[in-house]
Amino acid sequence: MRRYLYTWSKLGLKVFDSDVLILGSGIAGLYTAIKVSEHSQVTVLTKKTIEVSNTEQAQGGIAVAIDIADSPSLHFEDTLRAGAGLCDPLTVRILVEEGPACVEELMGMGAQFDRLDGELALTREGAHSQRRILHALGDATGWEIERALVAKAKESANVTVGEGHFVVDLLENHQGDIIGALVLNEETGEFEGHLAKAVVLATGGLGQVYRYTTNPSVATGDGMAAALRAGADLMDMEFVQFHPTALLIPEAPRFLISEAVRGEGAHLINSAGIRFMENVPGKELAPRDIVARAIWQEMKQGPVYLDFRPIGQERILERFPTIYKTCLNYGMDVLITPLPVAPAAHYMMGGIATNSDGETSLPHLYAAGECACNGVHGANRLASNSLLEGLVFGARIVEKMRDKIEAKRPSWKEVHSPGEDLVRTVTGISGSVKQLDGHCLRKQIQDLMWDNVGIIRDGVGLKKATELLLAWERDDLATCCVDDFETANILTVGTVIAKAALDREESRGGHFRSDYPLRLDELWQKHSLQRKEGYHVCYIPVSGAD
Ligand code: SIN
Repeated sequence: MRRYLYTWSKLGLKVFDSDVLILGSGIAGLYTAIKVSEHSQVTVLTKKTIEVSNTEQAQGGIAVAIDIADSPSLHFEDTLRAGAGLCDPLTVRILVEEGPACVEELMGMGAQFDRLDGELALTREGAHSQRRILHALGDATGWEIERALVAKAKESANVTVGEGHFVVDLLENHQGDIIGALVLNEETGEFEGHLAKAVVLATGGLGQVYRYTTNPSVATGDGMAAALRAGADLMDMEFVQFHPTALLIPEAPRFLISEAVRGEGAHLINSAGIRFMENVPGKELAPRDIVARAIWQEMKQGPVYLDFRPIGQERILERFPTIYKTCLNYGMDVLITPLPVAPAAHYMMGGIATNSDGETSLPHLYAAGECACNGVHGANRLASNSLLEGLVFGARIVEKMRDKIEAKRPSWKEVHSPGEDLVRTVTGISGSVKQLDGHCLRKQIQDLMWDNVGIIRDGVGLKKATELLLAWERDDLATCCVDDFETANILTVGTVIAKAALDREESRGGHFRSDYPLRLDELWQKHSLQRKEGYHVCYIPVSGAD
């Protein structure tokens, strides 16, 4: 694996600096930025416009134990149960206990959640024992959170936002400390060096690795791939969550149909109208991996539908206005007709390994949100825990940084470059082994991953996928524009997922193998860790597990 996607030189690059550099503008990136800006100058770089993120698309909501009938302990137990033996109890405890104060602070920043008779309204989602999901504008929770955070960030004189800035790679000094990022400014077409005392990756997920995903087009695993190239550890990358219910209409994107729809009473039915989850513990609200696999199996016999009608027309319109309108645009009226649905790649449980303060294995590099992995989600994330995670661990990064921020800002002189005398070019890399067509390759990777590293996996398919992905990695993809950088990142994180899934010979949470269908705690209750050397997988214990 090459260290840099682009052969750059220190000569002639425009250089910028700040105290803290945050890459990504979803909930983790912006919340962290707003809090850091209370004492430091922060730059937030984002690859499209500031709002475009997985956060903006979140429908269901944000899980938090605030109801009188609920408690952090119940939230803790539900999270651990869904995580299938791979959650780190310490980080889960932090999540559920520090979550309520962070949500309070988020509301103080302007996010408004739906209320019922003046009280915060709470809904239920799969594998939650209580109603503990806050939502906004019915089913546009992420949109409302992003709106509030963007407004708050823009108010702060200490926050500089760079839109259309694609992070190509992380920059290091001669000691291996991360001191910034190499960035392509899409507006000017120029590469830039952004330096900081601390760098926070909050670049989100990687759904675009798969043919079908609920994620926006920006979710190409850029932060995880850049961290891996820089030498950081990735953890638990075999655990991909497939959301059970995405809209299934030929040629339409797999638009998310929130789990909250089932939480409010919708039924999953097959083409004979039979409620096939009826006899499964938890029924439609069983953990996501179980529901997704049940739908997948059922689809072998025929289409599967989500029947909204048990919710009642008035409630559907009040709770799910976005889903209702979007489906209507595709000619489906959920008030009248059951909606065809299918699973789609939704969330990466793994990511850049961090401790409970968001510190990665590389000095001065932090990670938060979906691109990070601190063991909080285990093998299967509990619905609506991810927005909460972005807040809680973003806040902890800010606390951790507080004592380090007094240091001097790094200088461009300190940056270790791949070749001091190379002149920057815009023609990309040279010395091809075999030139690959980026557009074609992206599609091939997505198909290969969906068919062989998807909801149900086996050794034959995983081996085939791993070998092909490694072969493509050895060939040359000319990387000189954002599309190519993204494809290279998709290839890297796809290879990491496939290799980790091939090596884990058991089934657990989001990782199900038909050739090893059982969960084998004695052998496999451990986290996988991968470094860039040959995608080799090693394992570390689950901290605090029985
Ligand atoms: C949903 O609304 O079903 C998605 C929520 C989540 O992924 O946590």
